[in-house]
Amino acid sequence: MEHPLLFSGFLGSRVHIGVTGSVAAYKALDILRGLLRAGCSVSATLTRAAERFVTPLSFQALGADPVYGEMFAGAETVDPFGHLAPSHAAKVLLIAPATADILAKLACGLADDMLSCQALAFRGPLVLAPAMNPAMWAAPATRENWAKLLGRGALGVEPGQGLAACGDEGQGKLADPAEILAASLRALSPADMAGKRVLVSLGPTREAWDAVRFWTNASSGLMGAALATAAWLRGAEVTVVAGPVNQPLPLGIRRLDVNTALEMHAACMDLWPDMDLACMTAAVADFRPEPYGDQKFKKDKAGDGLTVRFLPNPDILRDLGANKREGQILVGFAAETSDLGPQAAKKLKAKNLDLIVANRVDRADSGFASPTNAVCVLDRRGRLEQWPALPKTEVAWRIWDLLPQL
Ligand code: CTP
Repeated sequence: MEHPLLFSGFLGSRVHIGVTGSVAAYKALDILRGLLRAGCSVSATLTRAAERFVTPLSFQALGADPVYGEMFAGAETVDPFGHLAPSHAAKVLLIAPATADILAKLACGLADDMLSCQALAFRGPLVLAPAMNPAMWAAPATRENWAKLLGRGALGVEPGQGLAACGDEGQGKLADPAEILAASLRALSPADMAGKRVLVSLGPTREAWDAVRFWTNASSGLMGAALATAAWLRGAEVTVVAGPVNQPLPLGIRRLDVNTALEMHAACMDLWPDMDLACMTAAVADFRPEPYGDQKFKKDKAGDGLTVRFLPNPDILRDLGANKREGQILVGFAAETSDLGPQAAKKLKAKNLDLIVANRVDRADSGFASPTNAVCVLDRRGRLEQWPALPKTEVAWRIWDLLPQL
């Protein structure tokens, strides 16, 4: 479970997890840990069937508090209003795994145990991650219940394809816990970027010279992934054009993988007319080696040295700026080793940007491959802010906070 990236804004938000009876119930523990890591507080309810697969103690031990079980079990210790507690305290109700049975109950409004009562009383966002045998998922009754629940606004994280625990093949396996966590965090986030189409470029580019050698840089793509994820969490429709880097993103983000600057340029130029906003974080190679060819260069051809000629690559950000229409917002980065402010101002103007984020790439706490970034941000109107070294997730969230004033 690698993504989503962690943002500090979830601190203290409460999520209630409902767990129902499925072999996948143990995966809810992973989701619980992810929510806690994101700063949420978490309570849980296990149905009687869920308790046959996992124990309340596991949830308690990992930090869920309180953990509800049967409505009338051990009446002396039970909260008489436990069936209403999540509706008062939690911002999001997540049911993972959700069986065919709980979907049917929710669709009909049945309230005959603790979890179904809590769900009926809950007025906030409901996230459902079903898991069941593929035939049960495909059954007309389940199809109807699912459509009804989505129609009422429930957020569905559909089961994946594959081999179910029973040996049947098809759609029914619980989705990846990282996806369920991401959907829950999205439900918790402000939807202030809803409806915005956002393009983010990230990572390095890779420029081949011969069959085995290439020219690139140390960009990790983390800053771009944080921006893309933050925008997606805040409701945007996000497309990422990613250079060759292993940076996992929630599946809800559309991802186009490219290698070279020319490929990244073509992809971004193609997408730009349909976007409201673009943010170019990629460390694009400004030059590509003049190709030797598709064979491997043999070193005995080099004599006592090797000269490689480099050709200029297009500046993607500049070309987006030159083709910016009314209402589009363009955000660029500037990687610098000195003169942050003046360099940023020059690039903002030359590339027709609305905002530029300049970062130092010569410090341990900033730039390539660092989890933090020390940036200064400058907007079109000349407003300048200098931020201390912050986690890249925090920098990303703050950059989107600036949108309304651009
Ligand atoms: N950029 C781009 N295409 C390029 C080069 C850069 O889209 N061929 C974008 C980067 O994604 C970044 C911004 O332009 O958002 C600035 O990149 P940077 O490397 O700081 O500046 P350059 O314009 O390349 O100038 P220099 O390398 O001389 O500082």
